[in-house]
Amino acid sequence: MTRQAWVNGVYVAADEARISPFDRGFLFADGVYEVTAVYNGRTVDMERHLDRLERSLRELKFGAMPDRKELEEVHRRLIADNNITEGYIYLQVTRGAYGQRDFVAPDKPNLTCFAYAESKPLIDTATARNGLRIVALPDIRWARRDIKSTGLLAQALAKTEAKARGVDDAWLVASDGLVTEGASSNAWIVTKDGEIITRALSNVILAGITRHALFDSLGQQGRKITERSFTLEEAKNAAEAFTTAATGLVTPVVEIDGVKLGNGKPGPITRGVQKLYYTAIGADVSKAAPWVND
Ligand code: PDD
Repeated sequence: MTRQAWVNGVYVAADEARISPFDRGFLFADGVYEVTAVYNGRTVDMERHLDRLERSLRELKFGAMPDRKELEEVHRRLIADNNITEGYIYLQVTRGAYGQRDFVAPDKPNLTCFAYAESKPLIDTATARNGLRIVALPDIRWARRDIKSTGLLAQALAKTEAKARGVDDAWLVASDGLVTEGASSNAWIVTKDGEIITRALSNVILAGITRHALFDSLGQQGRKITERSFTLEEAKNAAEAFTTAATGLVTPVVEIDGVKLGNGKPGPITRGVQKLYYTAIGADVSKAAPWVND
């Protein structure tokens, strides 16, 4: 089946989608994006993703918004037309094309909107089962990481470097020695006393939607999350660690820079968090992820 995409209001075969090379998204990374998980054929937290998209556009002073109702419909239709039960929707909005390269953004926006859907297992993956081996790399990104910008070169380089070093992913560390976040995820550690820690929100990290959902789910259970910064050293000495993102959901981290956490296997608190999140998005854990109970 040909994959359907959506470009500026029109559904097209994905490989026939066309965008101008003068698009400011292409020339200046002048665009923002969202990745929304799909489970059981339904979006996970789409409204929060669309809220964050609108916030990113406001912060970048786009001066225009795509129609929210239309974006909701696009998500539903891409899921249906592409037969997605488990996977994600990618949505990107740029300031558009103006036929020339000019650093100064035009007064009148001419948004380019693009979305496509992808089928992909989110829950029963090797990394969700076995955990990630990661390396720490310097965080060389710009100062507005709270905006979900398409300017992802630093993240792409970090993930490529991680792969070259034979591991699965990277966590980014600022010059003060504090971990900011994963290259495409939020970073969490669990202390030997079972305290769950993640960095507080600010302009140095992205306000993850999965992160937000965990605050809700853990909060409902009366479980506390400590929001504070932690050093790379503290992470390496942690009992457990994990990442959260729309694409990996909750993924254990079992090794940082060659140092095994705990016994080098996903820890019990991380397994509990995975179970909680999978259940919250509608999964029957006994079928979808029986290994969380191992
Ligand atoms: N990335 N931090 C960064 C730098 C990210 O790129 C992401 C997600 C997150 C987690 O956010 P959320 O829980 O809303 O997915 C945190 C997406 C998945 C991506 O770039 O593909």
